[in-house]
Amino acid sequence: MCADASQHDGHPAPEDLLDVGSLPRFVDALPIPHKAGPVGFAASREDRRKKVTLYRIEMRQFMAKVHRDIPPSTLWGYADTSPGPTVDVRSGSPVRVEWINRLPARHLFAIDHTLEGASADQPEVRTVVHLHGGRVGPESDGFPETWITPGHSAAYYYPNQQEAAALFYHDHAMGITRLNTAAGLMGLYLIRDEFEDRLKLPSGEFEVPLIIVDRSFRKDGQIYYPVSSDPKSLWVSEYYGGGILVNGKLFPYVDVLPRRYRFRILNSSNSSFYVLSLAPSLSFASPALPIYQIGGDQGLHSEPERVEALILGPGERSDVVVDFRSNRGKELFLRTKVANFLQFRVSGTQVEDPSQLPATLRPVARIPESDAIRTRQLTLADYQDRLGRSKRMLLNGARWSMPVTERVVLGSTEIWSFVNLTDESHPIHLHLVRFQLLDRTPFDLPTYQLTGKLVFTGPVQKPGAGEWGWKDTIRVDPLSVTRIIVKFEGFAGRYVWHCHLLEHEDNEMMRPYDVVPAR
Ligand code: C2O
Ligand code: CU
Repeated sequence: MCADASQHDGHPAPEDLLDVGSLPRFVDALPIPHKAGPVGFAASREDRRKKVTLYRIEMRQFMAKVHRDIPPSTLWGYADTSPGPTVDVRSGSPVRVEWINRLPARHLFAIDHTLEGASADQPEVRTVVHLHGGRVGPESDGFPETWITPGHSAAYYYPNQQEAAALFYHDHAMGITRLNTAAGLMGLYLIRDEFEDRLKLPSGEFEVPLIIVDRSFRKDGQIYYPVSSDPKSLWVSEYYGGGILVNGKLFPYVDVLPRRYRFRILNSSNSSFYVLSLAPSLSFASPALPIYQIGGDQGLHSEPERVEALILGPGERSDVVVDFRSNRGKELFLRTKVANFLQFRVSGTQVEDPSQLPATLRPVARIPESDAIRTRQLTLADYQDRLGRSKRMLLNGARWSMPVTERVVLGSTEIWSFVNLTDESHPIHLHLVRFQLLDRTPFDLPTYQLTGKLVFTGPVQKPGAGEWGWKDTIRVDPLSVTRIIVKFEGFAGRYVWHCHLLEHEDNEMMRPYDVVPAR
């Protein structure tokens, strides 16, 4: 089900590809992204007499070292860092962010001009910021076609009228999102609220973001992003990096105290799904240590769940607590199924820990299926060329430029039922809303292809560990029907829904959808 970062993309690797596996591990300290600092105030949209905090964040090209033994890499980032600064805000306090594009005129990577929105007559460098998971008005949502070129800026308004959650901001420019993100354009956006404060979870330096991306590098330190063997269409269907960066470093270590920590984990990889676990040694035979998952994409769960593995697809977040108390003086590792990529060095000193891990967190009321006014059946399908290579994947058989088919009424609830006809998992994301996973059910593909009928081949699978909470991105497994229930709240206007596997998103696996006001 899950690909991993070591998997090869099938294209011949260049001679100068750096063998990430040969690097010494755990020689660089884990960087912690700095917090974005406000620059002033802007007018409130809700109340003219009020002011809201203003941030100004520039996108730039810069050089940074991803590992002690790799020469500096050219990266794109917000505020000269990748990941960018963490925007840390309070629920109920809107902010304005002026996003400024100061990138150079040339892209770091080769553009496939055959993709929708990326034709050769378009400017090479285009950016537009989307706040993933934000309940944001359509004018500030970062619609993929509303990109800006270097020298321009966009002032977006984020109402923050939603519960505490780890959102993230990243680029979303039509046809080149995968390249802009691979270059480094992403950052965390934390919304906090009083309910969360009262839980006394580990905070301050004991709350640590872990932003995970996989990348390959050339020997000179430059990011390697492959192109296909077809010179007319350079797009590749997936990107799997040779190594995993955490907060911008390959194989970092972090010194921790023997106490509880809260980790805000984001998978910002282009294509990779991870099965993450906490290991007591480098040996893959060692049994995983417990992780307490306390939240997901859209905030806190109803109670902590003790898990041994976290499955995280592109765009998904996981909020976890790890207790290092019983591991004083030891080394632990965060690992995928194939690599130990982050080392925890637990100090031997004894410390006080005033933080808590309450037995109950925030109640998550399940949306009854009877609330849904309709069910939409939406397919995910792969279209291949004569050689069986994936050419593009479509949502419900429609390309981006076709008329809008998903028109939902503001305030209404619907069930979206994703029928995955492909042989891989796709992380499906809807802008604007939060939703709940209902279930997944395997079905028989040949029958569906012949008759268009869904014949189920196994039992209905209820959400797995960590999937009971509010989500905004959901793993749609191959040959399964995955059902979510969504209430379309917040704003009317044009949004998008798409696969968050960025290569797919850039090649038509994205559709506009409209939220229309109730009459
Ligand atoms: Cu995180 Cu439309 O994306
Ligand atoms: Cu996909």
